[in-house]
Amino acid sequence: MGAPAPAEQRDLAQVVVDAFQGVTDEVDVILPVVEGAVPPSLRGVLYRNGPGRLRVHDLQLTHPFDGDGMVSRFAFANGQVRYRNRYVRTDEYLAEARAGRALYRNFGTNLPGGIWANLLGFKFKNPANTSVLAHAGRLLALWEGGLPHALDPETLETLGRYDFAGALRSVGLARVLAPEPPFAAHPRRCARTGEVWSFGLQVAPRPTLWIYRIDVRGELVETRRIRLPAMSFMHDFVLTERFAVFFMTPVTFDVARALIGFASPVQSIRRAPGGTVALLVPRNGGPERRIPLGSGFFLFHFFNGFSDGATIVVDGCRMADFPGGTVDLSDVTAVREVGLDPGYPTRWRINVETESVDECKVSNVAMELPTIDPRRVAIRHEVGYATARLRPGPPFYTGLARVDFDTGEVDTVDLAPDLPGEPMFLPLSGNEAHAGGVLATVVYRAAERVSELQLRVPETLALIARARLPHAMPPGFHGQYVPA
Ligand SMILES: [Fe+2]
Repeated sequence: MGAPAPAEQRDLAQVVVDAFQGVTDEVDVILPVVEGAVPPSLRGVLYRNGPGRLRVHDLQLTHPFDGDGMVSRFAFANGQVRYRNRYVRTDEYLAEARAGRALYRNFGTNLPGGIWANLLGFKFKNPANTSVLAHAGRLLALWEGGLPHALDPETLETLGRYDFAGALRSVGLARVLAPEPPFAAHPRRCARTGEVWSFGLQVAPRPTLWIYRIDVRGELVETRRIRLPAMSFMHDFVLTERFAVFFMTPVTFDVARALIGFASPVQSIRRAPGGTVALLVPRNGGPERRIPLGSGFFLFHFFNGFSDGATIVVDGCRMADFPGGTVDLSDVTAVREVGLDPGYPTRWRINVETESVDECKVSNVAMELPTIDPRRVAIRHEVGYATARLRPGPPFYTGLARVDFDTGEVDTVDLAPDLPGEPMFLPLSGNEAHAGGVLATVVYRAAERVSELQLRVPETLALIARARLPHAMPPGFHGQYVPA
């Protein structure tokens, strides 16, 4: 345990704990706009996903990746915001509701009862809690370890596990060990073609990367399986004009430790020797290429990628080390040092002809949950947005940042003690103020213990409007905006 933290860090830790108390009601309301005005030209639906609670009956979940997925829906029209939230009724959610207790192991939290309760526990919960994919009229709740769940895009009613009409299925021995093929929570919709690319990382029996292409009609038209030389952890990827680009970070997974039940899967991930390697998968087929990126760094998220002649440009949040199993809410509660290296916005320029790599740290402001204007996916972007870590001590991302990748200029706004979620660029439908879009983020307000939707000017991060939710919501992970 680390030294006692200053009062400000304790206060922020308490805010995080309060923010994760969880949502118990499901509503359908028009949100009161408590400051500013919602631009009438903002017309569309913003979906967000994240763990709505970190408690399952008798089990207090300790890892922020756990917790039942709750999808929220913000519909914008005529300067109004209609808000709706629903938990995803997975089979596991319903079974635990019937039993009145926790029945499944989670990615980061074992069942109570120690090793015997978790011994050979293959029954992991698919919490459907990480992101959404809204495409071709369909809405899916995503979790990277299993199948998506289809939801009604209007009511958010759960329609069930979704396998793209049988196209998403495991093969061979993997059907026993992992009957649900993995479908990651970071699909990318190519702004040029309208196709959605996604992937899944299968650990056993052999490390395999699944790659999926979904056409504009929503059909899974292509599946590729790439054998990996070793286990890796890939949570996100980027598209360029010609390639799907993955960063294979050097980690290993102690399968025995997790299966014996001694530790949760998160606690069974280890740093492996070696460097990080870029895996370039040609979009039009052909053999993939591997280009070493130097040292063994780690990252969760990318801003975007694009082609610049023979060079592939990739922007992401680089961490010096793998966070290991130490990201745990009990550490936050106790204000222990959380083993999470800050991620810094970094640009890689990878020349596919010479295989030379240039890595450049863009800013000394630590950032997470990076995003761009969705109309620039796989196309050159100049600007990115992210939550920002602006204070020393535990890694609380209390700020928002705007990064200009051309100039290296970074603008930030610190919302502490409030906690912002992922900032998302929402293109405006009309041609009114705010130059093409607004930045939307759900913010947990510490003093009122309630969440609100904030709209900001993307160029300056200045506030446009605040709309108050009827409850407090954990900040959540990812979402998608569907213009009307
Ligand atoms: Fe993510």
